[in-house]
Amino acid sequence: MTLQTSSEIVKKAPTQIPLWRQLQSTANVLQAVRSGESGTSALKQVEASLRPGVQALSFHVWRWLGTAEIIKSYLVKRVPPAQADALLCVALAILCGESAGLRYEAFTLVDQAVEAAKRHPNTNASSSFINACLRRFLREKDAITQKALTHPVGQWNHPQWWIKRLKIDHPNAWQQILESNNTHAPLSLRVNVKKSSVASYLSSVNAIDGVAVNEIKQVGKCGVSFSKAIPVHEILGFADGTVSVQDAAAQLAAPLLLDGMNLNAQSRILDACAAPGGKTAHLLEMVDCEVVALDIDAARCDLIHQNLSRIGLHAKVIVADAAKPITWFDDQKDAHFDAVLLDAPCTASGIVRRHPDIRWLRRETDIAQLAEIQRHLLDTLWKLVKPGGRLLYCTCSVFKAEGQDQAALFTSNNKNAKLLNSPGHLTPKNSAKNGVVTHNQQGNELTNHDGFFYALFEKQSI
Ligand SMILES: C[S@@+](CC[C@H](N)C(=O)[O-])C[C@H]1O[C@@H](n2cnc3c(N)ncnc32)[C@H](O)[C@@H]1O
Repeated sequence: MTLQTSSEIVKKAPTQIPLWRQLQSTANVLQAVRSGESGTSALKQVEASLRPGVQALSFHVWRWLGTAEIIKSYLVKRVPPAQADALLCVALAILCGESAGLRYEAFTLVDQAVEAAKRHPNTNASSSFINACLRRFLREKDAITQKALTHPVGQWNHPQWWIKRLKIDHPNAWQQILESNNTHAPLSLRVNVKKSSVASYLSSVNAIDGVAVNEIKQVGKCGVSFSKAIPVHEILGFADGTVSVQDAAAQLAAPLLLDGMNLNAQSRILDACAAPGGKTAHLLEMVDCEVVALDIDAARCDLIHQNLSRIGLHAKVIVADAAKPITWFDDQKDAHFDAVLLDAPCTASGIVRRHPDIRWLRRETDIAQLAEIQRHLLDTLWKLVKPGGRLLYCTCSVFKAEGQDQAALFTSNNKNAKLLNSPGHLTPKNSAKNGVVTHNQQGNELTNHDGFFYALFEKQSI
Protein backbone atom coordinates (compact mmCIF):
# COMPACT_ATOMS: atom_id res chain seq x y z
CA MET A 1 0.00 0.00 0.00
CA THR A 2 2.69 2.42 0.99
CA LEU A 3 4.75 2.10 -2.16
CA GLN A 4 1.76 2.37 -4.46
CA THR A 5 0.48 5.48 -2.79
CA SER A 6 3.78 7.24 -2.98
CA SER A 7 4.77 6.27 -6.48
CA GLU A 8 1.46 7.26 -7.98
CA ILE A 9 2.90 10.75 -8.11
CA VAL A 10 5.23 9.59 -10.90
CA LYS A 11 3.17 10.76 -13.82
CA LYS A 12 5.65 10.29 -16.60
CA ALA A 13 8.44 7.87 -17.23
CA PRO A 14 11.93 9.12 -18.05
CA THR A 15 11.82 10.56 -21.54
CA GLN A 16 14.48 8.21 -22.94
CA ILE A 17 12.10 5.26 -22.59
CA PRO A 18 9.93 5.16 -25.71
CA LEU A 19 6.21 5.30 -25.05
CA TRP A 20 5.54 2.18 -27.12
CA ARG A 21 7.59 0.09 -24.65
CA GLN A 22 5.57 1.42 -21.73
CA LEU A 23 2.31 0.75 -23.56
CA GLN A 24 3.41 -2.81 -24.31
CA SER A 25 4.34 -3.40 -20.70
CA THR A 26 1.12 -1.77 -19.39
CA ALA A 27 -0.87 -4.08 -21.67
CA ASN A 28 1.00 -7.08 -20.18
CA VAL A 29 0.11 -5.90 -16.67
CA LEU A 30 -3.55 -5.50 -17.69
CA GLN A 31 -3.54 -8.99 -19.16
CA ALA A 32 -2.07 -10.39 -15.94
CA VAL A 33 -4.84 -8.73 -13.88
CA ARG A 34 -7.46 -10.02 -16.30
CA SER A 35 -6.14 -13.51 -15.73
CA GLY A 36 -6.31 -13.24 -11.93
CA GLU A 37 -2.96 -11.81 -10.82
CA SER A 38 -3.02 -8.77 -8.54
CA GLY A 39 -1.80 -5.47 -9.96
CA THR A 40 0.83 -5.23 -7.20
CA SER A 41 2.29 -8.58 -8.16
CA ALA A 42 2.13 -7.91 -11.91
CA LEU A 43 3.88 -4.54 -11.50
CA LYS A 44 6.67 -6.14 -9.45
CA GLN A 45 7.58 -8.18 -12.52
CA VAL A 46 7.97 -5.13 -14.76
CA GLU A 47 11.58 -4.24 -15.61
CA ALA A 48 12.80 -1.71 -13.01
CA SER A 49 13.54 1.09 -15.47
CA LEU A 50 10.01 0.89 -16.90
CA ARG A 51 8.16 0.38 -13.64
CA PRO A 52 7.41 3.98 -12.50
CA GLY A 53 5.93 4.93 -15.87
CA VAL A 54 4.08 1.64 -16.28
CA GLN A 55 2.67 1.93 -12.78
CA ALA A 56 1.31 5.41 -13.46
CA LEU A 57 -0.19 4.25 -16.76
CA SER A 58 -1.66 1.09 -15.17
CA PHE A 59 -3.34 3.00 -12.34
CA HIS A 60 -4.87 5.32 -14.90
CA VAL A 61 -5.99 2.43 -17.11
CA TRP A 62 -7.69 0.62 -14.18
CA ARG A 63 -9.63 3.80 -13.40
CA TRP A 64 -10.81 4.14 -17.02
CA LEU A 65 -11.07 0.54 -18.15
CA GLY A 66 -14.87 0.40 -18.03
CA THR A 67 -15.24 3.34 -20.40
CA ALA A 68 -12.50 1.92 -22.64
CA GLU A 69 -14.17 -1.49 -22.83
CA ILE A 70 -17.57 -0.05 -23.71
CA ILE A 71 -15.98 2.17 -26.37
CA LYS A 72 -14.15 -0.87 -27.73
CA SER A 73 -17.45 -2.76 -27.97
CA TYR A 74 -18.72 -0.01 -30.32
CA LEU A 75 -15.57 -0.13 -32.46
CA VAL A 76 -14.99 -3.84 -32.98
CA LYS A 77 -17.21 -6.59 -34.32
CA ARG A 78 -14.98 -9.38 -33.04
CA VAL A 79 -12.76 -9.15 -29.97
CA PRO A 80 -9.08 -9.43 -31.04
CA PRO A 81 -6.63 -11.91 -29.44
CA ALA A 82 -6.03 -11.27 -25.72
CA GLN A 83 -2.72 -9.41 -25.99
CA ALA A 84 -3.93 -7.14 -28.79
CA ASP A 85 -7.17 -6.53 -26.92
CA ALA A 86 -5.23 -5.46 -23.82
CA LEU A 87 -3.12 -3.06 -25.88
CA LEU A 88 -6.20 -1.59 -27.56
CA CYS A 89 -7.93 -1.10 -24.18
CA VAL A 90 -4.82 0.53 -22.68
CA ALA A 91 -4.68 3.03 -25.57
CA LEU A 92 -8.43 3.75 -25.37
CA ALA A 93 -8.32 4.19 -21.56
CA ILE A 94 -5.53 6.76 -21.94
CA LEU A 95 -7.31 8.57 -24.77
CA CYS A 96 -10.74 8.69 -23.14
CA GLY A 97 -9.40 9.62 -19.71
CA GLU A 98 -6.91 12.20 -20.91
CA SER A 99 -8.52 14.93 -18.81
CA ALA A 100 -7.50 12.96 -15.71
CA GLY A 101 -3.86 13.94 -15.80
CA LEU A 102 -1.95 11.74 -18.23
CA ARG A 103 -1.46 14.05 -21.19
CA TYR A 104 -0.15 12.56 -24.37
CA GLU A 105 -0.78 14.08 -27.77
CA ALA A 106 -3.54 11.88 -29.21
CA PHE A 107 -1.87 11.10 -32.55
CA THR A 108 1.44 10.35 -30.84
CA LEU A 109 -0.33 7.92 -28.57
CA VAL A 110 -2.01 6.17 -31.48
CA ASP A 111 1.30 5.94 -33.39
CA GLN A 112 3.04 4.52 -30.34
CA ALA A 113 0.26 1.99 -29.66
CA VAL A 114 0.54 0.78 -33.26
CA GLU A 115 4.33 0.65 -32.89
CA ALA A 116 3.91 -1.42 -29.71
CA ALA A 117 1.68 -3.84 -31.61
CA LYS A 118 4.14 -4.15 -34.52
CA ARG A 119 7.08 -4.83 -32.21
CA HIS A 120 5.66 -7.96 -30.61
CA PRO A 121 5.06 -11.22 -32.51
CA ASN A 122 1.77 -11.84 -30.64
CA THR A 123 0.29 -8.49 -31.65
CA ASN A 124 2.00 -7.74 -34.94
CA ALA A 125 -0.84 -9.25 -36.97
CA SER A 126 -3.33 -6.98 -35.16
CA SER A 127 -1.42 -3.72 -35.70
CA SER A 128 -3.52 -2.52 -38.67
CA PHE A 129 -6.68 -3.41 -36.81
CA ILE A 130 -5.55 -1.44 -33.72
CA ASN A 131 -4.58 1.47 -35.95
CA ALA A 132 -8.01 1.49 -37.63
CA CYS A 133 -9.90 1.28 -34.31
CA LEU A 134 -7.94 4.06 -32.64
CA ARG A 135 -8.13 6.40 -35.65
CA ARG A 136 -11.85 5.88 -35.92
CA PHE A 137 -12.15 6.64 -32.22
CA LEU A 138 -10.25 9.90 -32.67
CA ARG A 139 -12.52 10.91 -35.59
CA GLU A 140 -15.73 10.19 -33.65
CA LYS A 141 -14.42 10.70 -30.13
CA ASP A 142 -17.09 12.99 -28.68
CA ALA A 143 -20.07 11.01 -29.97
CA ILE A 144 -18.62 7.62 -29.02
CA THR A 145 -17.53 8.78 -25.58
CA GLN A 146 -20.91 10.38 -24.86
CA LYS A 147 -22.63 7.13 -25.80
CA ALA A 148 -20.23 5.05 -23.65
CA LEU A 149 -20.97 7.26 -20.64
CA THR A 150 -24.66 6.32 -20.82
CA HIS A 151 -23.71 2.70 -20.07
CA PRO A 152 -23.26 2.03 -16.31
CA VAL A 153 -19.89 0.31 -16.80
CA GLY A 154 -18.74 3.18 -19.03
CA GLN A 155 -19.96 5.75 -16.55
CA TRP A 156 -18.72 4.23 -13.30
CA ASN A 157 -15.70 2.23 -14.43
CA HIS A 158 -16.63 -0.82 -12.37
CA PRO A 159 -17.93 -4.23 -13.49
CA GLN A 160 -21.68 -4.49 -13.87
CA TRP A 161 -22.05 -7.02 -11.03
CA TRP A 162 -20.18 -4.72 -8.63
CA ILE A 163 -22.46 -1.77 -9.43
CA LYS A 164 -25.58 -3.93 -8.97
CA ARG A 165 -24.31 -5.24 -5.66
CA LEU A 166 -23.57 -1.76 -4.33
CA LYS A 167 -27.03 -0.56 -5.34
CA ILE A 168 -28.55 -3.34 -3.23
CA ASP A 169 -26.16 -2.99 -0.29
CA HIS A 170 -26.06 0.82 -0.17
CA PRO A 171 -29.17 2.20 -1.91
CA ASN A 172 -28.41 5.73 -0.71
CA ALA A 173 -24.65 5.76 -1.06
CA TRP A 174 -23.72 3.57 -4.05
CA GLN A 175 -22.99 6.50 -6.37
CA GLN A 176 -20.84 8.24 -3.80
CA ILE A 177 -18.91 4.98 -3.20
CA LEU A 178 -18.27 4.52 -6.92
CA GLU A 179 -17.24 8.16 -7.30
CA SER A 180 -14.85 7.87 -4.36
CA ASN A 181 -13.35 4.70 -5.81
CA ASN A 182 -12.26 6.64 -8.88
CA THR A 183 -10.49 9.37 -6.93
CA HIS A 184 -6.94 9.40 -5.59
CA ALA A 185 -6.58 8.63 -1.90
CA PRO A 186 -4.73 11.12 0.30
CA LEU A 187 -1.55 10.09 2.06
CA SER A 188 -2.65 9.34 5.64
CA LEU A 189 -0.22 8.88 8.47
CA ARG A 190 -0.66 7.61 12.00
CA VAL A 191 1.33 9.47 14.61
CA ASN A 192 2.92 7.14 17.18
CA VAL A 193 1.64 8.47 20.50
CA LYS A 194 4.56 6.82 22.31
CA LYS A 195 6.94 9.09 20.39
CA SER A 196 5.02 12.26 19.53
CA SER A 197 1.60 13.88 19.24
CA VAL A 198 -0.41 15.13 16.28
CA ALA A 199 0.09 18.77 17.34
CA SER A 200 3.83 18.39 17.70
CA TYR A 201 4.15 16.46 14.43
CA LEU A 202 2.08 19.05 12.55
CA SER A 203 4.23 21.88 13.85
CA SER A 204 7.44 20.04 12.80
CA VAL A 205 6.06 19.42 9.31
CA ASN A 206 4.80 22.97 8.91
CA ALA A 207 8.25 24.28 9.82
CA ILE A 208 9.73 22.63 6.72
CA ASP A 209 10.08 24.77 3.60
CA GLY A 210 8.06 23.61 0.65
CA VAL A 211 5.27 21.78 2.43
CA ALA A 212 2.94 24.71 1.86
CA VAL A 213 2.02 23.19 -1.52
CA ASN A 214 0.59 20.22 0.35
CA GLU A 215 -2.58 20.58 2.40
CA ILE A 216 -1.93 18.88 5.73
CA LYS A 217 -4.52 18.31 8.41
CA GLN A 218 -5.38 16.17 11.39
CA VAL A 219 -7.63 13.19 10.72
CA GLY A 220 -9.25 11.25 13.55
CA LYS A 221 -7.58 11.04 16.92
CA CYS A 222 -3.95 10.43 15.99
CA GLY A 223 -3.74 10.79 12.24
CA VAL A 224 -2.50 13.35 9.74
CA SER A 225 -3.32 13.52 6.07
CA PHE A 226 -1.43 15.10 3.18
CA SER A 227 -3.43 16.07 0.11
CA LYS A 228 -0.53 15.07 -2.16
CA ALA A 229 1.48 11.86 -1.99
CA ILE A 230 5.11 11.96 -0.89
CA PRO A 231 7.63 9.16 -1.43
CA VAL A 232 7.88 7.16 1.76
CA HIS A 233 11.58 7.91 2.29
CA GLU A 234 10.78 11.64 2.27
CA ILE A 235 8.10 11.45 4.97
CA LEU A 236 9.28 13.23 8.10
CA GLY A 237 9.49 10.76 10.99
CA PHE A 238 8.82 7.65 8.94
CA ALA A 239 12.29 6.12 9.23
CA ASP A 240 12.37 6.36 13.03
CA GLY A 241 8.78 5.21 13.54
CA THR A 242 7.31 8.53 14.64
CA VAL A 243 4.72 8.06 11.90
CA SER A 244 3.44 5.15 9.81
CA VAL A 245 1.38 5.12 6.63
CA GLN A 246 -2.18 4.01 7.44
CA ASP A 247 -5.56 5.02 6.10
CA ALA A 248 -7.78 7.03 8.48
CA ALA A 249 -10.45 4.29 8.62
CA ALA A 250 -7.85 1.62 9.43
CA GLN A 251 -6.62 3.87 12.26
CA LEU A 252 -9.91 3.31 14.07
CA ALA A 253 -9.19 -0.37 14.78
CA ALA A 254 -6.79 -0.19 17.74
CA PRO A 255 -8.67 2.53 19.69
CA LEU A 256 -12.01 0.84 19.03
CA LEU A 257 -10.74 -2.41 20.49
CA LEU A 258 -8.77 -0.94 23.41
CA ASP A 259 -10.56 2.21 24.58
CA GLY A 260 -12.40 1.47 27.81
CA MET A 261 -10.52 -1.77 28.54
CA ASN A 262 -8.58 -2.17 31.76
CA LEU A 263 -5.45 -3.85 30.46
CA ASN A 264 -2.24 -4.39 32.43
CA ALA A 265 1.19 -5.86 31.82
CA GLN A 266 -0.22 -9.41 32.10
CA SER A 267 -2.96 -8.82 29.54
CA ARG A 268 -2.75 -10.57 26.19
CA ILE A 269 -3.94 -9.38 22.79
CA LEU A 270 -4.22 -11.47 19.63
CA ASP A 271 -4.00 -9.84 16.20
CA ALA A 272 -5.20 -12.83 14.21
CA CYS A 273 -4.66 -11.74 10.59
CA ALA A 274 -1.86 -9.33 11.22
CA ALA A 275 0.37 -8.89 8.18
CA PRO A 276 1.86 -6.51 7.19
CA GLY A 277 1.40 -5.35 10.77
CA GLY A 278 -0.17 -1.91 10.47
CA LYS A 279 -2.76 -2.55 13.15
CA THR A 280 -0.36 -4.65 15.27
CA ALA A 281 1.93 -1.65 15.47
CA HIS A 282 -0.93 0.65 16.38
CA LEU A 283 -1.99 -1.71 19.21
CA LEU A 284 1.58 -1.75 20.53
CA GLU A 285 1.75 2.04 20.35
CA MET A 286 -1.27 2.15 22.67
CA VAL A 287 -0.54 -0.57 25.26
CA ASP A 288 2.28 -2.23 27.17
CA CYS A 289 1.36 -5.90 27.17
CA GLU A 290 1.89 -9.01 25.09
CA VAL A 291 0.62 -8.83 21.53
CA VAL A 292 0.57 -12.03 19.47
CA ALA A 293 0.60 -11.26 15.74
CA LEU A 294 -0.45 -14.18 13.60
CA ASP A 295 -0.59 -14.55 9.85
CA ILE A 296 -0.82 -17.53 7.54
CA ASP A 297 1.58 -16.02 5.01
CA ALA A 298 5.25 -16.38 5.99
CA ALA A 299 6.51 -13.76 3.52
CA ARG A 300 3.97 -11.27 4.83
CA CYS A 301 5.05 -12.08 8.42
CA ASP A 302 8.50 -10.78 7.45
CA LEU A 303 6.79 -7.46 6.75
CA ILE A 304 5.40 -7.45 10.31
CA HIS A 305 8.96 -7.85 11.62
CA GLN A 306 10.21 -5.06 9.34
CA ASN A 307 7.42 -2.68 10.33
CA LEU A 308 7.80 -3.31 14.05
CA SER A 309 11.57 -3.04 13.94
CA ARG A 310 11.33 0.36 12.16
CA ILE A 311 9.07 1.61 14.94
CA GLY A 312 11.02 -0.09 17.75
CA LEU A 313 8.17 -2.32 18.92
CA HIS A 314 7.94 -6.03 19.66
CA ALA A 315 5.23 -8.64 19.15
CA LYS A 316 5.27 -12.42 19.23
CA VAL A 317 4.93 -13.11 15.49
CA ILE A 318 3.62 -16.54 14.51
CA VAL A 319 3.16 -17.96 11.01
CA ALA A 320 0.01 -20.05 11.35
CA ASP A 321 -3.59 -20.57 10.32
CA ALA A 322 -5.79 -18.62 12.71
CA ALA A 323 -8.61 -21.04 11.97
CA LYS A 324 -6.59 -23.89 13.56
CA PRO A 325 -5.59 -22.59 17.02
CA ILE A 326 -4.56 -26.05 18.19
CA THR A 327 -1.57 -25.80 15.81
CA TRP A 328 -0.19 -22.57 17.19
CA PHE A 329 -0.43 -22.53 20.99
CA ASP A 330 1.91 -24.59 23.11
CA ASP A 331 -0.04 -24.44 26.30
CA GLN A 332 -3.77 -24.19 27.04
CA LYS A 333 -3.20 -20.91 28.90
CA ASP A 334 -1.81 -19.41 25.68
CA ALA A 335 -5.21 -19.90 24.08
CA HIS A 336 -6.98 -17.14 26.02
CA PHE A 337 -6.89 -13.48 25.17
CA ASP A 338 -8.30 -10.31 26.69
CA ALA A 339 -8.73 -8.79 23.27
CA VAL A 340 -8.75 -10.22 19.77
CA LEU A 341 -8.51 -8.26 16.53
CA LEU A 342 -9.79 -10.10 13.49
CA ASP A 343 -8.95 -8.04 10.39
CA ALA A 344 -10.23 -10.78 8.16
CA PRO A 345 -9.24 -11.60 4.58
CA CYS A 346 -11.85 -9.97 2.33
CA THR A 347 -12.59 -8.71 -1.18
CA ALA A 348 -10.84 -5.41 -0.32
CA SER A 349 -13.74 -3.65 -2.05
CA GLY A 350 -13.28 -0.69 0.32
CA ILE A 351 -9.73 0.14 -0.79
CA VAL A 352 -10.30 0.50 -4.52
CA ARG A 353 -9.00 4.09 -4.48
CA ARG A 354 -5.55 2.80 -3.50
CA HIS A 355 -5.75 -0.44 -5.46
CA PRO A 356 -7.80 0.42 -8.55
CA ASP A 357 -7.10 -3.03 -10.09
CA ILE A 358 -9.21 -4.78 -7.42
CA ARG A 359 -12.53 -4.14 -9.17
CA TRP A 360 -11.27 -5.94 -12.31
CA LEU A 361 -9.54 -8.71 -10.36
CA ARG A 362 -12.45 -9.81 -8.21
CA ARG A 363 -15.21 -12.16 -9.30
CA GLU A 364 -18.69 -11.94 -7.78
CA THR A 365 -18.31 -15.48 -6.45
CA ASP A 366 -15.34 -14.34 -4.29
CA ILE A 367 -17.75 -12.59 -1.92
CA ALA A 368 -19.52 -15.75 -0.75
CA GLN A 369 -16.26 -17.71 -0.58
CA LEU A 370 -14.58 -15.05 1.55
CA ALA A 371 -17.68 -14.62 3.73
CA GLU A 372 -17.51 -18.32 4.57
CA ILE A 373 -13.83 -18.00 5.59
CA GLN A 374 -14.67 -14.92 7.69
CA ARG A 375 -17.55 -16.74 9.40
CA HIS A 376 -15.31 -19.65 10.30
CA LEU A 377 -12.53 -17.40 11.61
CA LEU A 378 -14.99 -15.41 13.72
CA ASP A 379 -16.50 -18.54 15.30
CA THR A 380 -13.09 -20.07 15.97
CA LEU A 381 -11.47 -16.99 17.46
CA TRP A 382 -14.47 -16.13 19.65
CA LYS A 383 -13.68 -19.27 21.67
CA LEU A 384 -10.27 -17.78 22.53
CA VAL A 385 -11.71 -14.59 24.07
CA LYS A 386 -11.77 -14.54 27.90
CA PRO A 387 -15.13 -13.82 29.56
CA GLY A 388 -15.45 -10.03 29.73
CA GLY A 389 -12.95 -9.73 26.87
CA ARG A 390 -13.51 -8.24 23.42
CA LEU A 391 -13.26 -9.18 19.79
CA LEU A 392 -13.14 -6.56 17.05
CA TYR A 393 -14.18 -7.90 13.65
CA CYS A 394 -13.24 -5.80 10.65
CA THR A 395 -12.86 -5.98 6.90
CA CYS A 396 -11.82 -3.39 4.33
CA SER A 397 -14.94 -4.21 2.36
CA VAL A 398 -18.11 -2.29 1.58
CA PHE A 399 -20.12 -5.43 0.75
CA LYS A 400 -22.65 -6.27 3.45
CA ALA A 401 -22.02 -10.02 3.17
CA GLU A 402 -18.55 -9.32 4.62
CA GLY A 403 -19.76 -6.83 7.21
CA GLN A 404 -23.24 -6.21 8.51
CA ASP A 405 -24.61 -9.64 7.52
CA GLN A 406 -21.60 -11.38 9.03
CA ALA A 407 -21.99 -9.53 12.33
CA ALA A 408 -25.75 -10.22 12.46
CA LEU A 409 -25.21 -13.94 11.86
CA PHE A 410 -22.51 -14.03 14.52
CA THR A 411 -24.66 -12.38 17.22
CA SER A 412 -27.62 -14.60 16.43
CA ASN A 413 -25.43 -17.73 16.74
CA ASN A 414 -23.55 -16.61 19.86
CA LYS A 415 -25.79 -15.60 22.72
CA ASN A 416 -22.77 -14.60 24.82
CA ALA A 417 -21.73 -11.97 22.26
CA LYS A 418 -22.84 -8.42 22.98
CA LEU A 419 -22.42 -5.95 20.15
CA LEU A 420 -20.89 -2.79 21.60
CA ASN A 421 -21.16 0.64 20.02
CA SER A 422 -19.49 0.12 16.63
CA PRO A 423 -19.17 2.10 13.40
CA GLY A 424 -20.59 -0.66 11.17
CA HIS A 425 -20.02 0.10 7.49
CA LEU A 426 -17.87 3.12 6.80
CA THR A 427 -18.31 3.88 3.15
CA PRO A 428 -15.48 5.84 1.55
CA LYS A 429 -15.54 9.49 2.65
CA ASN A 430 -18.90 9.50 4.42
CA SER A 431 -18.30 8.93 8.10
CA ALA A 432 -19.21 12.48 9.03
CA LYS A 433 -22.61 11.85 7.48
CA ASN A 434 -23.44 8.56 9.13
CA GLY A 435 -22.73 9.75 12.63
CA VAL A 436 -19.45 7.90 13.21
CA VAL A 437 -17.71 10.75 14.89
CA THR A 438 -16.89 9.26 18.27
CA HIS A 439 -13.18 9.48 17.59
CA ASN A 440 -13.37 12.81 15.91
CA GLN A 441 -14.15 15.35 18.56
CA GLN A 442 -12.34 18.69 18.43
CA GLY A 443 -13.49 19.06 14.84
CA ASN A 444 -11.20 16.34 13.52
CA GLU A 445 -13.76 14.58 11.40
CA LEU A 446 -12.96 11.60 9.29
CA THR A 447 -14.07 12.81 5.91
CA ASN A 448 -11.61 11.18 3.57
CA HIS A 449 -10.95 7.52 4.17
CA ASP A 450 -11.25 4.01 2.73
CA GLY A 451 -14.31 1.79 3.03
CA PHE A 452 -14.30 -0.39 6.15
CA PHE A 453 -16.54 -2.42 8.41
CA TYR A 454 -16.20 -2.62 12.18
CA ALA A 455 -18.18 -4.63 14.74
CA LEU A 456 -16.98 -4.79 18.34
CA PHE A 457 -18.19 -7.69 20.52
CA GLU A 458 -17.87 -8.22 24.25
CA LYS A 459 -18.02 -11.71 25.72
CA GLN A 460 -20.74 -11.96 28.34
CA SER A 461 -20.77 -14.56 31.11
CA ILE A 462 -24.03 -16.45 30.65
C1 LIG B 1 -6.57 -7.48 5.55
S1 LIG B 1 -5.05 -8.29 5.66
C2 LIG B 1 -4.53 -7.81 7.27
C3 LIG B 1 -3.96 -6.42 7.36
C4 LIG B 1 -3.33 -6.16 8.72
N1 LIG B 1 -4.24 -6.40 9.81
C5 LIG B 1 -2.80 -4.75 8.84
O1 LIG B 1 -3.47 -3.88 9.40
O2 LIG B 1 -1.67 -4.51 8.39
C6 LIG B 1 -5.55 -9.93 5.92
C7 LIG B 1 -4.43 -10.88 6.28
O3 LIG B 1 -5.03 -12.12 6.65
C8 LIG B 1 -4.10 -13.14 6.38
N2 LIG B 1 -4.83 -14.41 6.44
C9 LIG B 1 -5.71 -14.93 5.56
N3 LIG B 1 -6.20 -16.09 6.01
C10 LIG B 1 -5.62 -16.32 7.22
C11 LIG B 1 -5.72 -17.37 8.18
N4 LIG B 1 -6.51 -18.42 7.99
N5 LIG B 1 -4.97 -17.29 9.29
C12 LIG B 1 -4.13 -16.23 9.49
N6 LIG B 1 -4.00 -15.22 8.61
C13 LIG B 1 -4.74 -15.25 7.49
C14 LIG B 1 -3.56 -12.74 5.02
O4 LIG B 1 -2.31 -13.36 4.78
C15 LIG B 1 -3.46 -11.22 5.16
O5 LIG B 1 -2.17 -10.84 5.53
